Amino acid sequence: MVYTLTSLLALAGLAMAQQACNGYPSLCSKSYNEVSYLTTHNSYAFMSSVGQNQHYDVQTQLDDGIRGLKLSAVKSSNYTGVELCHTACNILDAGSAHDTLGVVASWLKNNPNEVVTIMWNNLGNFSASELQSEYQQASGIMDYLYVQPNNNYTWPTLSEMISSGKRLVNFMDVNADQTTVPWLHDEYTYIFETPYDNTNVSQLGCAIDRPQDPASPGQMMYVMNNFIYGTLEVGSIQIELPQPYQANITNAAAFENHATNCTSVLGRPPNFLEVDFYNWGTTFQVLDKMNNVTYVVKSLNHGANSDSGHSDATSGVEAFGEAAFITAAALTLVAIFVTLIF
Ligand SMILES: *[C@@H]1O[C@H](CO)[C@@H](O)[C@H](O)[C@H]1NC(C)=O
Ligand SMILES: *[C@@H]1O[C@H](CO)[C@@H](O)[C@H](O)[C@H]1NC(C)=O
Ligand SMILES: *[C@@H]1O[C@H](CO)[C@@H](O)[C@H](O)[C@H]1NC(C)=O
Ligand SMILES: *[C@@H]1O[C@H](CO)[C@@H](O)[C@H](O)[C@H]1NC(C)=O
Ligand SMILES: *[C@@H]1O[C@H](CO)[C@@H](O)[C@H](O)[C@H]1NC(C)=O
Ligand SMILES: *[C@@H]1O[C@H](CO)[C@@H](O)[C@H](O)[C@H]1NC(C)=O
Ligand SMILES: *[C@@H]1O[C@H](CO)[C@@H](O)[C@H](O)[C@H]1NC(C)=O
Repeated sequence: MVYTLTSLLALAGLAMAQQACNGYPSLCSKSYNEVSYLTTHNSYAFMSSVGQNQHYDVQTQLDDGIRGLKLSAVKSSNYTGVELCHTACNILDAGSAHDTLGVVASWLKNNPNEVVTIMWNNLGNFSASELQSEYQQASGIMDYLYVQPNNNYTWPTLSEMISSGKRLVNFMDVNADQTTVPWLHDEYTYIFETPYDNTNVSQLGCAIDRPQDPASPGQMMYVMNNFIYGTLEVGSIQIELPQPYQANITNAAAFENHATNCTSVLGRPPNFLEVDFYNWGTTFQVLDKMNNVTYVVKSLNHGANSDSGHSDATSGVEAFGEAAFITAAALTLVAIFVTLIF
């Protein structure tokens, strides 16, 4: 009896494994490059700071449905490996890469029907082997690493990736070298990006920005950058900061227009829809439209942190919140300059 029940459950588990891929049965038969993934810009930058790009930690992002993570590899003064920092570690320091990779590994273990992508912005100019060494320190992650043959633009289906267990795809913008580290793909061989340096939603476009003039744009996937910066003048220096107070606009109608425009301009939906503060706006509604699946209402309000740096509905309170944010930004930057000068 017990044996029978266990077998039935095991069979049910096997069947379940192929019932839905990244949440939807219809995505199982699609190739990896035919699917759209909501991607967080600077996924690690969720702690309260002027350099904050997200409100929730990486595990919450994955639980909510984020399937692309953009991470910055930076050199820090207290660690010889790869540190996750927003440009400089004195602006925002999220600790070692292997800590965050460990979070991703345990999430993948608990979520066997999901395919996740990591893209590295290699600001510290690390070698591919140095990145590999961080992955080796993150328990269990090596088992999930998918390898695409170099320069091959034919990707497996999500179902095939899930069955094989190789469901973490990794890219790096600088210094990728598949001959030494086969699973760390060169981003700009397989992916191009639309312009990222926007300060107003009216600028969000669909041109191929990086790399310039790729050889096979039609075969590549693409990142649609859908976030805006605000600029802060400190003396003669202009500093770009994330814009939490604009996210309800940036991530709603403007996001949908942008995605619809890029689908038409580039002939296919964006693969990686990259956003700041993904919990504001209608991010998953737009994602599901791109994937031609039915949006199921989900709550992205996980309490206290959802309001960090924010305030509630009334515009007066919000204006105060924004003023406080700018003051905090100015003070932090002054502190950084003092640190740099002295
Ligand atoms: C380096 O120091 C920063 C600031 O104290 C800290 O946040 C970070 O976790 C440290 N990095 C490592 C790898 O210990
Ligand atoms: C970055 O690293 C590569 C490979 O190690 C090296 O050839 C190159 O000179 C480095 N670039 C900079 C700006 O340090
Ligand atoms: C390209 O990759 C796909 C999927 O991994 C594979 O089926 C195919 O055989 C590869 N083609 C070549 C020429 O390596
Ligand atoms: C963006 O540009 C539009 C049109 O020029 C303007 O009305 C709007 O205020 C701008 N938004 C921001 C956040 O500056
Ligand atoms: C669509 O994208 C193109 C290419 O970047 C741009 O020129 C155009 O202004 C965009 N249209 C809209 C409606 O945003
Ligand atoms: C964004 O919209 C939500 C829902 O309408 C609202 O609760 C929240 O306060 C808004 N956030 C900002 C920063 O305006
Ligand atoms: C969208 O999905 C429906 C079924 O849900 C299908 O009939 C339709 O062909 C799909 N559209 C595209 C563009 O794939």
